[in-house]
Amino acid sequence: MDRVKPILFVAGIGCFVFSITLSGFYPWLISGGRDPEHTLAQVSADVTPEFRELKAQHPLKFLEAFPEAAGALSGQELAKLEAADARRVASEKAWAAAHATALRRGRDIYIAEACWHCHSQFVRPVANEEQRFGRIRTMRDDNNTLQRPMLWGTRRVGPDLTNEGGLRSNDWHLAHLIDASSTSPGSIMPRYTWMQEKGWQIRATIDPNIAARESLPETTSHALPGVYPTKESAEAALKQLQDDPPANMEEEVERLIIAEAFGPTSDALALIAYLQWLGRWQAPVAEKTR
Ligand code: HEC
Repeated sequence: MDRVKPILFVAGIGCFVFSITLSGFYPWLISGGRDPEHTLAQVSADVTPEFRELKAQHPLKFLEAFPEAAGALSGQELAKLEAADARRVASEKAWAAAHATALRRGRDIYIAEACWHCHSQFVRPVANEEQRFGRIRTMRDDNNTLQRPMLWGTRRVGPDLTNEGGLRSNDWHLAHLIDASSTSPGSIMPRYTWMQEKGWQIRATIDPNIAARESLPETTSHALPGVYPTKESAEAALKQLQDDPPANMEEEVERLIIAEAFGPTSDALALIAYLQWLGRWQAPVAEKTR
């Protein structure tokens, strides 16, 4: 027995070294070193529609979180420009730069909040997993800097998130992060209440005639996009709107009020941008040299 113990010990270390060597070198070996790791700029170049929508939904917070987006134009704004207008190119550059910042930060928050503790990013080709979670994961999903360290996860308390991008709306993600049971009754996912912060917003109350016709309370209102950090800043924005109302708001502008509200933090925006990106980018197929 005394002789077996050291043999088992050395064999154990041997297995450990072997597995580390295999997982470290095997991916490199099978791609023949032809397939370099993809950079943040490459993975973020294709801006998701949800990321553009996030700017329209939370304009102030978005620019605070991603100042690179200052020159980024919406679809409507772009439509007004000539095809050769230089602002088009500048806009796409601004979108891509903001997207890169958001993905990096969102990924960091995903790690910091230990989302990986309950969610995998690895749909395996076994047990019909693709029927539950969609497309099977391949090396092309992982050959990029946002997968360092690998976020495959260790267990699945919640669903796999490999193909999460585009599956849900931004609003759904925000509501779900703050209180998962509001969108998924009975969910045990923790509440990330610190992903929202208090502020002020401008709301448009309903036209009294419509309220009477539809038997709705006269206090019915809808929020304009944007949550302002202070009451003063919201009032200043309201005054600006009243002084110079946009064409489609001339009547509505009479019925605007200020109300307390919650809005997403910059971290929430970055995390949502990251979730909406998942599964949407895969490394191009490596070209065979022979
Ligand atoms: C304690 C385990 C746990 C942790 C930690 C956790 N989740 Fe979840 N998550 C769940 C469970 C369970 C569900 C399924 C029920 C539901 O939809 O809430 C879920 C669902 C989800 C979904 C919906 C997937 C879909 O499309 O159906 C998303 C997105 C998500 N989680 C993101 C996150 C993010 C981002 C974090 C970190 C900030 C996180 N989760 C942390 C357990 C967890």
